[in-house]
Amino acid sequence: MTAQEIMNLAAQQRERHALDRAFYRDPDIYEQDIERIFLKSWLYAGHQSEIPGVGDWFLFEFAGESVIIVRSSPDEINALLNVCRHRGSRVCVESEGCSKLLRCRYHGWSYDLRGNLRAAAHMDESFDKSDIGLKKIHVELLDGMIFVNFAENPVDFSVVREDLSDCLRPYDLENTKVAHRQTYPIASNWKLAVENYCECYHCAPAHPEYAVGHGLAHSDSRTDDLYRQVMSRAAACGLSDKEVNKMYLAAPGFGADYAFERYPLIREHVTGSEDGKPLAPLLGDLIDYDGGATDLQVGPVTFALIYCDHAVIYRFTPLTIDTAECDISWLVRADAKEGRDYDREKLTWLWDVTTHADKAIIERNQQGVNSRYYVPGPLSTWESYTWKFLSWYLQTMKNP
Ligand code: FES
Ligand SMILES: [Fe+2]
Repeated sequence: MTAQEIMNLAAQQRERHALDRAFYRDPDIYEQDIERIFLKSWLYAGHQSEIPGVGDWFLFEFAGESVIIVRSSPDEINALLNVCRHRGSRVCVESEGCSKLLRCRYHGWSYDLRGNLRAAAHMDESFDKSDIGLKKIHVELLDGMIFVNFAENPVDFSVVREDLSDCLRPYDLENTKVAHRQTYPIASNWKLAVENYCECYHCAPAHPEYAVGHGLAHSDSRTDDLYRQVMSRAAACGLSDKEVNKMYLAAPGFGADYAFERYPLIREHVTGSEDGKPLAPLLGDLIDYDGGATDLQVGPVTFALIYCDHAVIYRFTPLTIDTAECDISWLVRADAKEGRDYDREKLTWLWDVTTHADKAIIERNQQGVNSRYYVPGPLSTWESYTWKFLSWYLQTMKNP
């Protein structure tokens, strides 16, 4: 498909409907997805606690790209493209490590932790090492969460950080650690995975474990009462009005949209656990459970749930046109000790079981969409957030 044909097709999509088959199957559209969305948006790479020491690094990879997220000094994190400046080999090949120098194993070129070339043997005299280094992309921190952006001039992330600082303050995510991180491969186009995450129309049939403690629609009359209860308990738990703001949505610029909503859990659940009981020490400044949970979105494919005692960060990325990954990190207080303060199996149970169920649903969705007889159907009133994502996506694809 030409760029013009893709724009035309995006313009023809019906309001509040699923997308045409081509959006999940056409290789040219997939390339546009990568170029226009993934290489221009703020993407969650990981948490700063995963690279505590100078020289610690891990790889963030999707759609054939690989980025080295490295701590270059005690207070500096860099994101370096994992493409050697000699003949292009991957420099780091394991998923994580700790090094003083990043050394390409092909011909031995070595880079320092800021990507500067330090050693390259047998080059002629005109070769100037200072001209060449691993390409850097933009890095920003949001309460310890590392976000990267491939664009040359991305939207200013400080706007997101400033706007969300009040909402996030009580949970002190900067002083958390990753208790568990897991990647779930999904045999589908990445958009089907995001569309699914954005709605809870499917939660009653698909997620009995989730539905025990979480309301399916955040604003029905039953939860409005609960919402007032959460509000009334908030101050005593260490939360201000701003931090229990019911809905907070903004789009400061391309690829930096964010959303924040704190809503009540149901049936006296205080956190996202199997029995509704606490899972880990309270986060940050909290002094009690308010009975609520927060949905957070930062950029188009990063989502988080913040309970009083842990947070779960979700990121969706494409691998190929019809394979994607859901990467999940479970965060607890930095000083919490596994075995003493939390049980990893109990901590991860809900979102592991839920993600396995989602993977099955999303993969069946792709199989159906692959059919020559698939016709995009209308969305329900419970899929408004999915439509918000799809309309943002179509708007992006409609732009010349
Ligand atoms: S490709 Fe890296 S040193 Fe040759
Ligand atoms: Fe789900």
